[in-house]
Amino acid sequence: MSEPITLRRFLTRHAHSNGLDPNLIFLIEDIASACRVIGNRLRNAAFEDNHGLAGDTNVQGEDQKKLDVIADEVFARICENSPRLAALVSEEREDAVWLKNPEAGDYLLFYDPLDGSSNIDVNLSVGSIFSICTAEMDGDRDVLKAGSAQNCSGYAIYGPTMMLVLTVGSGVYGFSCEYGTGDFRLTHPRMTIPAETAEFAINASRYRMWDAPVRRYVDECLAGSTGPRGRDFNMRWTASMVADVHRILTRGGVFLYPADEVNRNAGGKLRLLYEASPMALLIEQAGGTATDGTNRILDIHPYSHHQRVPVILGSASEVARIAHYHIADAGSAAS
Ligand code: AHG
Ligand code: MN
Ligand code: MN
Repeated sequence: MSEPITLRRFLTRHAHSNGLDPNLIFLIEDIASACRVIGNRLRNAAFEDNHGLAGDTNVQGEDQKKLDVIADEVFARICENSPRLAALVSEEREDAVWLKNPEAGDYLLFYDPLDGSSNIDVNLSVGSIFSICTAEMDGDRDVLKAGSAQNCSGYAIYGPTMMLVLTVGSGVYGFSCEYGTGDFRLTHPRMTIPAETAEFAINASRYRMWDAPVRRYVDECLAGSTGPRGRDFNMRWTASMVADVHRILTRGGVFLYPADEVNRNAGGKLRLLYEASPMALLIEQAGGTATDGTNRILDIHPYSHHQRVPVILGSASEVARIAHYHIADAGSAAS
């Protein structure tokens, strides 16, 4: 049997062929360690009395679960010793945390420590999302980087198998955590999204709040073989973006968390820096696309740490169709 390709081996090989900075490898390994620890804390949550609410709200006014807080602390504690990490931006912290005065090439880490945390108490899949950018010059204290500036992004999924899925800018690779050794081993080389799909993911309870282009798209999918699409569609919604994106990276599909009547003033639901941008990079690296309806997610320049954005991502042909419905709707409103 051939030797397993561990995360370290994969990254070291990549360093040789693509000139990956060893300090980036150290940081990715620290993130993997943090995710391993978070996975263990999730598994033991019932024994450690860690289910339920922390009794506080985060900067976005959302109730924090005990495990949101624990996962955030684990991420920060393990990663802050990484030699070239200059700053952390977390969903659970109001401001960026500066660890040092940045030198050119130092790293900035953006993370959602626990994604889909409403799923914890019902024992469904949750995840952690991360994104890494570099400081452009000495003293550059700007964390508001567009998604196209990311050096690396990925997520851990705490599902039946714990996995780490990441890109360092040349394809998407999935590593499964081996029970016993805790090693992340390459099991999903070059994950790619088929261009065509017959599966969509959206929180349909918000139907009455949606804009016309989103209703049109979903109505046509629901009409199935009797409607304009001429074929039946399947629908899935896990309420954990990590799990929905993982399904799309595995078997295709499209995911929508659009702007709607209720979330429009906030900009949408999902956060640009540590949810939308990292997932958009993975999706593009796997051959899919990601838009806010009008703009490529990776081109959006953030104006604040916790900025929200509408998200439509997945199989390229479906995302193009939904974007086209948005353009057609804007055109008819203007005329
Ligand atoms: P988080 O748990 O980090 O706050 O993120 C939850 C997000 C995302 O994972 C998911 O797609 C969406 O919120 C679920 O929203 P609904 O509750 O509207 O289904
Ligand atoms: Mn999240
Ligand atoms: Mn979260």
